[in-house]
Amino acid sequence: MLKKVLVIGAGTMGQGIAQWMVQQGLEVELADVVFDLPAKGVEKINESWKRLVEKGKFTADEVLNWSTKLKSATLETFSTDPDLVIEAIVEDLQAKKALFNDADKMIDEKAIFASNTSSLSINDLCSDLPMARKRKFLGLHFFNPVPIMKLVEIIQSKDTDQEVIDNLKTWFEERGKVPALCQDSPGFIVNRVARNFYGEPFRIVGDFNRAKINATDAILREVGGFKMGPFELLDLIGIDVNLSVTKSVWEAFKKAPRFAPHKLQEGMVNLGLLGKKTGEGYYNYEK
Ligand code: NAI
Repeated sequence: MLKKVLVIGAGTMGQGIAQWMVQQGLEVELADVVFDLPAKGVEKINESWKRLVEKGKFTADEVLNWSTKLKSATLETFSTDPDLVIEAIVEDLQAKKALFNDADKMIDEKAIFASNTSSLSINDLCSDLPMARKRKFLGLHFFNPVPIMKLVEIIQSKDTDQEVIDNLKTWFEERGKVPALCQDSPGFIVNRVARNFYGEPFRIVGDFNRAKINATDAILREVGGFKMGPFELLDLIGIDVNLSVTKSVWEAFKKAPRFAPHKLQEGMVNLGLLGKKTGEGYYNYEK
């Protein structure tokens, strides 16, 4: 069904999606608006495979074969004949719409278009596209880190063909992912529920207080049974990405106080402390 995938956005999620897709035997191109990021992303994925070979998770032959299938591209040079385009750029409705509108003019009509948005409306994202593309447009919301996390939310717009949804659901199931069909509602399932996982801890901690942050994470991890505490998870996701999602869900719910962004999110983003990717967030990762 799928042979060739174009992933646009070579950040945390684009890299993870590209890696997992190649591991399924697909040819993948990774592109970004920033010229050198796709090549750096490809390099990081190859390094990660090397470490996994050393740990005995994959064979050297497998990884050699995958590395020939993974390529970097720019927004000017990507191939125009993929079967699937997955967008994983910044969580901003206008930026994503502009990208899809441009891509629609360049890319073969057979291609399915998917957004990895965490919270934006799939109907809104495809609203300017011709009906033929809308029928092949959906949300594919992967989780971080993509090669490990099994869940994929599949979001159908009012125009997505049922066949596209059903085929992708089966395709993911056959490859060990756990697809969950969601309605096109703010934050879908996980990010709507997760607002409280972050919101209440923010209200408990109040200001940046190291002891309270550590204690909140430890309680949720060790007593609550979560793999990571909320502040650890925020650092992994990216505090900027999480703030955009918070704002988008809050606005979609007409600024309901229970979804309101917290000053601890805005403050960190203003200081450029975005979590693991910048070396510092609620914790310090600098070596
Ligand atoms: P990121 O900030 O790591 O990467 C975004 C990339 O998009 C950057 O490399 C940037 O240069 C590129 N970009 C921005 N505008 C662009 C454009 N117009 N054309 C092409 N490339 C462009 O962000 P991340 O974390 O990878 O998130 C991407 C998407 O995935 C967002 O919609 C986010 O909500 C969603 N998501 C994020 C998760 C996470 O844990 N970080 C989990 C699930 C979904």
